[in-house]
Amino acid sequence: MTTLIKNGTLVTASETFQANVLIEGEKILELLAPQSEVSRLWTGEVIDASGKLILPGGVDPHVHLDLPMFGTVSSDDHYTGTKAAAFGGTTTVIDFVSFDFPTFRQSVDAWHAKAEKAAVDYAAHMNLTRFDEAVAAELPSLVEMGITSVKTFTAYNNRLRLDDGSIFKALRLTGKNGMLMLLHAENGDVIEILTTEALNTGHWQPEWHAKTRPAWGAVEAALRAFALAATADAPLYLVHMNTAGEADMLQYTRQRGLKVMGETCPQYLFFTEDDLRRPDGAKWICSPPMRTAADNARLWQALSEDIIQTVGTDHCPFFFDGTKPIRYEGQEIAIPGKELGRDDFTKIPNGLPGVQDRLPVLWTTGVGSGKITAQQFVALTSTNPAKIFGMYPSKGALLPGSDADLVIWDPQKKVRYGVAMSHQRTDYNLYEGWELTGYPEKVFLRGKLIVDGEQWLGRAGEGRFIKRSETAFL
Ligand code: URP
Ligand code: ZN
Ligand code: ZN
Repeated sequence: MTTLIKNGTLVTASETFQANVLIEGEKILELLAPQSEVSRLWTGEVIDASGKLILPGGVDPHVHLDLPMFGTVSSDDHYTGTKAAAFGGTTTVIDFVSFDFPTFRQSVDAWHAKAEKAAVDYAAHMNLTRFDEAVAAELPSLVEMGITSVKTFTAYNNRLRLDDGSIFKALRLTGKNGMLMLLHAENGDVIEILTTEALNTGHWQPEWHAKTRPAWGAVEAALRAFALAATADAPLYLVHMNTAGEADMLQYTRQRGLKVMGETCPQYLFFTEDDLRRPDGAKWICSPPMRTAADNARLWQALSEDIIQTVGTDHCPFFFDGTKPIRYEGQEIAIPGKELGRDDFTKIPNGLPGVQDRLPVLWTTGVGSGKITAQQFVALTSTNPAKIFGMYPSKGALLPGSDADLVIWDPQKKVRYGVAMSHQRTDYNLYEGWELTGYPEKVFLRGKLIVDGEQWLGRAGEGRFIKRSETAFL
């Protein structure tokens, strides 16, 4: 099937221009000059995008779908989370494989069985949460499985954390095999001590989640990992940047030629530890935690100055009150959530919704306010993640031959955002009541219209696993 999208303004990571987009099957066939002969004489299907922008589908480099945690599970599975992604203009997500089985192969197979119901395209990072000789020997085989990145943690002692020596050894392997290491930077030892002290002194409230995970731990762990990466001659990507100090460290090390990159998430641009002090503060519990207004401002500056390369979401939603069902696709559903930690902040499942919110919220607050340009918006949310994670130019591009993952974006559309508009399967939204200007009107996945206004035309299982190529340093 061939479709012509006419009269739109294309926005890419490097330019904004008028063109008509000819889609054939799953691919962009051609970009045509508006007055070209093919455009004028076209008699096939036409979509008129007058007054609208055409963006490459969003690529969210950081989501957690169907993730077991603290005796419950994150409330979006691979279908509901990817449906929500699509409504927000995101057509590719990268999830994480838990290293739950003896081998990577077994862990990846188990993940595939859960992920195959995705409604948009999807890929995976591998959580590298154990390291020994057998793991080292198997690590390069992840590339054949299409998984070219691993996530390591300097926090979550006795659970997910690797020691520095193992991180260093793993970096030598990832560097040699064209892979990228992602790093969750916090100081696990300090967190253990502060958490025990807090609980022993009766500090159980949500704000203590932030107080026991200090920003300096994130800063020193980030610099430590950057130094390990430089020593191992391997690239490194810092996930969910949340502090001014991390932005400083990223700038400092990039200026010195280190192959390091960073991602922040919308929640770290707007919210602070004060939000945890609200009566419903558990809604903002995630790790790393919310910081200060000065951190928000420095992260914005780092986005506008191209110090940070991507905006992901770390989408990992839980219900605020998982004892009360919501309606989702006509069914009642309740999944235990943040109420599990009503009397103890360490029992509140860590994570927030955001996969649908990312593009509309960042457009209004970033492009609308002039903090970033429309081209930077596309770079941060689509093109850079596609390049860094080995999916470009199939994803993240408006080029002949690219997958026809397109968003027709209405820059004038005003919405009062919140849980009523959201397809994220949870009972709250961080941006409740926010006035947004700019919203996806139509979303195409490989040439198929899957979102048309409020209408869902996608299907579970229509997403395709993306075997990623070698990662790129930007
Ligand atoms: O709180 C969060 N972010 N949960 C997901 C796990 C992680 O560390 O990214
Ligand atoms: Zn993390
Ligand atoms: Zn995460």
